[in-house]
Amino acid sequence: MPGRSTPANPDGTVNPEAGNPDGAAPVRLEPMRRRHVRACAEIETVLFAGDSPWPPAAFHSELDLGGHYLVAVEGSVRDGDEHVLGYAGLAIMGKRGDYETSLHTIGVRPEHQGTGVGKALLRAVLAKADELAAQVFLEVRVDNDSAIGLYGEHGFERLGVRKGYYQPSGADAYTMRRDAITGQRQEDGR
Ligand SMILES: CC(C)(COP(=O)(O)OP(=O)(O)OC[C@H]1O[C@@H](n2cnc3c(N)ncnc32)[C@H](O)[C@@H]1OP(=O)(O)O)[C@@H](O)C(=O)NCCC(=O)NCCS
Repeated sequence: MPGRSTPANPDGTVNPEAGNPDGAAPVRLEPMRRRHVRACAEIETVLFAGDSPWPPAAFHSELDLGGHYLVAVEGSVRDGDEHVLGYAGLAIMGKRGDYETSLHTIGVRPEHQGTGVGKALLRAVLAKADELAAQVFLEVRVDNDSAIGLYGEHGFERLGVRKGYYQPSGADAYTMRRDAITGQRQEDGR
């Protein structure tokens, strides 16, 4: 898409213009804190209206379980103008040497979509999976072309279809998997 910023620096920060094409305020990726949960749940209700959006309790329980959850924010707590633009969460299962991860959620406020925030969030959670040498699973609605495109660009492949996975809409989901990035693959530059 022309005119879009290039997000996701290697350190996981977002380029200043990402999420703000007018360059108004820098966007940062940070660990999700309890104070962010209400905003994330509000974004969920907008993005997943027909598919059981997560209430605040769902985010709290994911944080309790120690998932790798990030938010993209602008502004600051100190100045009283912190604003959550998006979020992503990776659930981590298993144990050292045998981790498996699952991208449980990712979302960007509609008015900030298409500006690189989602890609930056995805890359940051995938970096965590790579650190753990873990494969990543996810489900995505079969009609969600933008998300499927984003996942395909980041090494995910379709495994199959889960009929009626989303409720109450009854929409089907693709299950997708991204292989673990092992040391050998990283050395090969793949
Ligand atoms: C999916 C989502 C998180 C992507 O975030 P985003 O900030 O809009 O995406 P980005 O601007 O970072 O774009 C990243 C990539 O997404 C894809 N993409 C974005 N918009 C697209 C569109 N309209 N059509 C096709 N691909 C699109 C492209 O691959 C793009 O890469 P490119 O910049 O190299 O072309 C966001 O659109 C969203 O919140 N959607 C609603 C919630 C959702 O569906 N979550 C996923 C559930 S599985």
